[in-house]
Amino acid sequence: MPDVYATIAEADPETQQRLADVLELRAADAQQRAMLEAYLSELDFPHQARVLEVGCGPGPVTRVLAAWPGVAEAVGVDPSPVFIARAREKAAGVDRLRFEEGDGRALSFPDGSFHVVVFHTTLCHVPGSDKAVAEAFRVLRPGGLLAIFDGDYASTTLATGDHDPLQCCADAAMATLVHDRWLVRRLPDVVRSSGFEPMRIRSHGFVEITEPGYMLTLVEAGGIGLRGP
Ligand SMILES: C[S@@+](CC[C@H](N)C(=O)[O-])C[C@H]1O[C@@H](n2cnc3c(N)ncnc32)[C@H](O)[C@@H]1O
Repeated sequence: MPDVYATIAEADPETQQRLADVLELRAADAQQRAMLEAYLSELDFPHQARVLEVGCGPGPVTRVLAAWPGVAEAVGVDPSPVFIARAREKAAGVDRLRFEEGDGRALSFPDGSFHVVVFHTTLCHVPGSDKAVAEAFRVLRPGGLLAIFDGDYASTTLATGDHDPLQCCADAAMATLVHDRWLVRRLPDVVRSSGFEPMRIRSHGFVEITEPGYMLTLVEAGGIGLRGP
C-alpha cells in the first residue's frame, strides 16, 4: 500500500479526518513540540516575516509559526481540502494566519513573496520532492530561509534485540506510511541542486516508551493492527 499522504486528496474524507486527528495528537506531544521549537529557535526570522508552511495538514505547526516572535503572517498550504477546512476552523479568529489548498510542487504565490519557508515532516511524503524544494526557492525572497524538518524513517526501530520479528512490523509500517524513507540522507544534495546554500544540519532523537499513544496510531495506520480491543 502506498503512502496515503502522497495522494492525500484522493483518500476518502473519513481517512483524512482520522489523519487530521493523528497530526494534532502528534503536534501536542511534548518531544515533538520541543523539536519544533528547537529548530525554529535557530532561524533568524526577520522582523515582520511572512512565513509559508508547505504541507501544513490541519495546521498545528502553522499556528505555532503565526505566534512566533517576529512573524507578521503565516500561511499554510496543503492539497487536502479536509485538512485545510480543519486548519481554518482551528484558526478562526486568529489574524496573521491563512490557509490555502494547493500543491507544494506548483505553488500559486508570486516569486519572492516569503521570508521563510518550512516543510515540517512533509517532504518525505511528496513524490518529486525536488520540485517542491525548487518552488520554495522561487517563492522565497533573496536571502530567505528554508527549514526542512523530517524523519529519518529508515532508522525507525521497535526491536529489543537482534533479529527481533517486531522490527518487521516497524519496517512494514514505515514502507506504508512514508513515500521516501531515505530522503533526509539525500537532503544536502536536494537543497543545493535548487540553489540553496549553505545549510546547517541538526539531528533530534525521538523515543516513546511510557506513553506510546502517537506511535501506536502510526502502527494502526500502517495496517499492522497492534491495538487491543
Ligand atoms: C505528516 S503530514 C505533516 C503535516 C504538518 N506539517 C504537521 O506537521 O502537522 C504530511 C503533509 O504533507 C502533505 N502533502 C502531501 N503531498 C503534498 C504536496 N504535493 N504538496 C504539499 N503538501 C503535501 C499532506 O497532505 C500532509 O498534510
